[in-house]
Amino acid sequence: MKEKIKTLAQKHNVLIAAHFYQRDEIVEIAHISGDSLELSQKASHSNNPIVVFCGVGFMGQSVKILSPKKRVFMPKIACCSMARMIDDSYFDESVKKLKSYGIDDFFPITYINSNAEVKAKVADFGGVVCTSSNASKIMDYALKQNKKIFFLPDRCLGENLAGQNGLKSAVLGVDSKEDVKNADIICYNGFCSVHQLFSVQDIEFFREKYKDILIVVHPECPKEVVKEADFVGSTSQIIKYVQSLEPAQKVAVGTEFNLVNRLRKPYNGEQNTFVLSSTKPECPTMNETTLQDVLKILEAIDKGEPYNEILLEEKIAAKAKKALDKMMELS
Ligand code: 13P
Ligand code: SF4
Repeated sequence: MKEKIKTLAQKHNVLIAAHFYQRDEIVEIAHISGDSLELSQKASHSNNPIVVFCGVGFMGQSVKILSPKKRVFMPKIACCSMARMIDDSYFDESVKKLKSYGIDDFFPITYINSNAEVKAKVADFGGVVCTSSNASKIMDYALKQNKKIFFLPDRCLGENLAGQNGLKSAVLGVDSKEDVKNADIICYNGFCSVHQLFSVQDIEFFREKYKDILIVVHPECPKEVVKEADFVGSTSQIIKYVQSLEPAQKVAVGTEFNLVNRLRKPYNGEQNTFVLSSTKPECPTMNETTLQDVLKILEAIDKGEPYNEILLEEKIAAKAKKALDKMMELS
């Protein structure tokens, strides 16, 4: 099957892109793999007219927005559960709520884990997109605007950025009106169901079991977990960090299990890399795509009957591009 995939991709000059959370078999056959920032940069800069994107919807959309002439297909239309927690109407409702609190002027930042309509709304308000790997840089830029920041949809990333910068944060619709009015960063109440699984108890368990263990987490984890960690980073930052450690150094990692299991091979017969949870932190939608799905979409492209193409309304895509381009410029 892998050979057939390779041949068909070559025949149609297709770039196969895979997020790090994809199954091993998908990462193995992909031409490029990476975190969400790297994938949108690499895929949009490539010369291939067609991209088969193995990941979740907002990632495929980002490639289409950044390079509208490319045709982008997804073997499975998989959605990030966090991205589904906000759409343009929820965005409008949040703006109404902020106004009812007397907050008329704010600078919006949307995490890349959001759909094109939400990115377009953020662009309308002069805002920008961020990913987990460039969030600090984008936050530095946002702080220079001297406005309250409205961060969406991930409340955890928003709270963690506030903590990192010594700023006050509050969650809209959860915290009191006073807290929201006093906050520097107002967060939308979205979250990642996978990264919510990691807890301080998990960290205590591993630290008790292995004295010198290091704890590494993704910034989508809750703020209590991030505060306790030795290292916090995006998926590619986690990979670089863990792979730079001494092979005997024990490390427990709080992110999706496909990525964690691929980080390091056992050393002297001993496994030193652990998933920071007693349950399986699996992103179900990321895990859906199989080799069979990739072959099926390539065969459909070959027959001239493709499906699952990412198509966006031109006006929405053009606005969303403004917020994404600004991010690229600042990255
Ligand atoms: P990265 O930007 O680190 O790839 O994260 C994307 C994501 O969805 C993590 O859950
Ligand atoms: Fe979305 Fe969480 Fe899956 Fe990342 S791990 S794609 S944030 S549901």
